[in-house]
This record gives sequence, structure tokens and C-alpha cells, in this order.
Amino acid sequence: MNTVNILLIGDIVGKPGRAIIKNYLNEICKEYAVDCVIANCENAAGGMSITPEIAQELFSYGIHILTTGNHIFNNRTIIKLLESNNSILRPANFPAGVPGNGVTIIQIKNFNIAVVNLIGRINMEPVDCPFVAFNTLYDEIKQKCDVIIVDFHAEATSEKKAFGWFADGRASAVCGTHTHVQTADETILPQGTAYITDVGMTGPFDSVIGMDKESSIHNFIYHTRIKFKVAQNDPKLNAVLVTCNSQGRAVSITRIVKSYELSPSIS
Ligand SMILES: [Fe+2]
Ligand SMILES: [Fe+2]
Repeated sequence: MNTVNILLIGDIVGKPGRAIIKNYLNEICKEYAVDCVIANCENAAGGMSITPEIAQELFSYGIHILTTGNHIFNNRTIIKLLESNNSILRPANFPAGVPGNGVTIIQIKNFNIAVVNLIGRINMEPVDCPFVAFNTLYDEIKQKCDVIIVDFHAEATSEKKAFGWFADGRASAVCGTHTHVQTADETILPQGTAYITDVGMTGPFDSVIGMDKESSIHNFIYHTRIKFKVAQNDPKLNAVLVTCNSQGRAVSITRIVKSYELSPSIS
């Protein structure tokens, strides 16, 4: 069967997350016969942003497309790269006039793979409607691609679930990101869309969603806004492997969780 294997990596957090990609992405790609690697990088620089240098570093490790989310403009040096490189996306449903693109198409094997980055609105910024944005984008890209992968970066489970049903039969996969906690609800919806509420996080798990536990606990108790630091220990990769056929339907979705030992010398 003519299929393509797409790895979608959950939010890469700080140096520990980058070290996992640097040291183990090749091995993972061999193990799962990966053809295309998509990763959410919004937390890759210091846990709260992405810089042009770190984006280029992640591309150099073999990631084809970088997606982002609510932290994309925390470091505005990324704007130039968003405007000049279609392989790094910002959510498509930011208002008109925001720099960068929310969709790109990459050719891998004999597949034209569209990657769409959207962001939710529940307990997040009041951006444009992601459902309407997808309808518009879908009409623009459906003739140009075989496969459509959506990174739906959102807080609310309900919004992600609703979007999965909404895109069933049009997207090949709807993969949630942002919560940094992998959900165990991966499935293929009736019309052939692979779905998971959240892919999870690639970074230090001895933490509060990637951040050092003590500063997080302190901020919850005292609200004095101590600066968060990226945690260091218990590095894990969270990802999903989605296999799609030439009709753009998902034939499988597999959750991946891997634990690593990272000594400072290889990070
Ligand atoms: Fe994140
Ligand atoms: Fe986020």
C-alpha cells in the first residue's frame, strides 16, 4: 500500500527537549520508518518562546515543519524567520496582518503533505475562529495536497474534540498540543481522520509541564510571579506516528512515549 509515515512531536521544552531531538530523533525515525517530522517548538527556547537560531537548530536535526502556539511572539526576533521561511508556522487563525503563515505544503515521497497550525480560543486569547479558518484554508489547499495534518494548539479538551469531529473526513489528522500532557484517546474517526486530544510534551517530566516545580508551586501559592525556569530531570519524548494513505485517510495512529538518560555532556 502507498502510505506515508508522519511523526508529530509534542511541545519541545527548553534545552532538555532539544537534547532529546538532537540525540535521538534519528533513532526514532529509523525505528518507526518515519518519512516526515512535524514538531511544536513554541517552548523550545527557555521554555517560553522560540528564536531563529533554535528553530534552525531544530531543522538541522531533521524536523521538516515546526508548528507553534500562544508563545510564538514572546521573542519577536522570530518574526523575520516567520516571514522568510514557510517551514515554521504560527497559528493560521491569528488576525489578518499578523506576520507569518499558518499553513504550508511539503512534498515527501509522492505525497503533498499540508500542515495546518490552528489555536483554540477557550481560556486563551480571543483570536479568530479556528473552525471558520479551517473551512477557508481547506477550500484553498484541498486540490493541492494529498494529506492534511492539523496541529490544534488549545487548552480545552471540548474545543479539540469538537474540532476533530468538525474536520473528520477533511483533515488526515487532528493532533492537539499545548497542555503538555499526552492523552490516551487516540483514535481514527469514522471518516478517516486520526485524532488525539493532546500529543504531550518533549522535555523534562520532573516538573510542572516542563517548568521547575518549586517556582511553579510558589507562584500558585503566593502569586508573586517568580520567573519560571525550565526543569532538568526525567527527559521524555511524547509524539504520535500517523500513517496516511494516498486518499488522505489515516490508517493508523500510534502514541509514542520514550524516556531517556541525558548526561550534561550530550545535551
Ligand atoms: Fe507549549
Ligand atoms: Fe501553548
